[in-house]
Amino acid sequence: MEMDFENRIVAPEFLSADSDIEVSLRPKTLDEYIGQEKAKENLRVYIEAARKRGDTLDHVLLYGPPGLGKTTLAGIIANEMGVNIRITSGPAIEKPGDLAALLSNLDEGDVLFIDEIHRLSKSVEEVLYPAMEDNSLDIIIGKGPSARSIRIDLPHFTLVGATTRAGQLTAPLRDRFGVILRLELYTPEQLGSIVHRSAGILGIEIDEEGAVQIASRSRGTPRIANRLLKRARDFAQVVGNGIITKESACIALNRMEIDELGLDSIDRRLLSTMIKNYNGGPVGLETIAAAIGEEAITIEDVYEPYLMQIGFLSRTPRGRMVTPAGYAHLGMETDGQQRLI
Ligand code: ADE
Repeated sequence: MEMDFENRIVAPEFLSADSDIEVSLRPKTLDEYIGQEKAKENLRVYIEAARKRGDTLDHVLLYGPPGLGKTTLAGIIANEMGVNIRITSGPAIEKPGDLAALLSNLDEGDVLFIDEIHRLSKSVEEVLYPAMEDNSLDIIIGKGPSARSIRIDLPHFTLVGATTRAGQLTAPLRDRFGVILRLELYTPEQLGSIVHRSAGILGIEIDEEGAVQIASRSRGTPRIANRLLKRARDFAQVVGNGIITKESACIALNRMEIDELGLDSIDRRLLSTMIKNYNGGPVGLETIAAAIGEEAITIEDVYEPYLMQIGFLSRTPRGRMVTPAGYAHLGMETDGQQRLI
């Protein structure tokens, strides 16, 4: 069974359909950036200190679930440092030479943003180490016995790496980041502020209760909130008077089969499969993956963070379990064997 993930409205990944609004909505300064208070306040200090010393900022690793604003923060770091940003991703850097070209084209102090940095190949990673450590490239010239290595000096730069899980990084790479920041899912209140801000920029009229509906169904993820805002505007224009209210927002969200907590049909199927086939667990990740036809890592990175955050799923040493709250949300009864550890 293949899941249709590409068009999933609650997918936290960047979809090509997001590009029209997402880029224009990205805040450019730390002051404009809502939420992630811990990461933001620490960054503010590091940026100010580096600026005062006239230094480049230390390399920064951002980790956390997709859609929370890692690329946005990288852009803000560059903007606040007054430098350019170059954006690329782990899989896009295929050969060591690709990275060498990127690095040697940076201007002094620039930010190099590498999304999905855990997906760099080993040979590329090895070029990155001396670049991060002492701004140099070791290049091998020639082949065989006459091969020799030359060292090229690079401009100073700040590497901003992003990954869904810091645990996926190799230790030598992780150790080379001076600053490691974890981004967390947003609260409904923070998402409400983001929805109002986005609506303002896009010229969409929305009332308080309309924003609450969108915020509470956006799974802690600004990217999803902004996407739902766009869809809710369509419904408000067609079934209402153009203003997103509680009523028109609920019609939109119900039509998209997104429930009060932001679960879509796939989330509900994940939970109900665990309940029906495995008695609610404990069940191994690989087993669940096979049952619903999805990769284990996708379940772990994409579905589980939110289901765990809202307390519907727990990870135990013996596998995943649906919690009583998860059963209750689906209107299912625990059968008496279900125990919480
Ligand atoms: N858009 C997406 N993420 C945001 C954030 N954290 N603050 C403001 N606008 C955003």
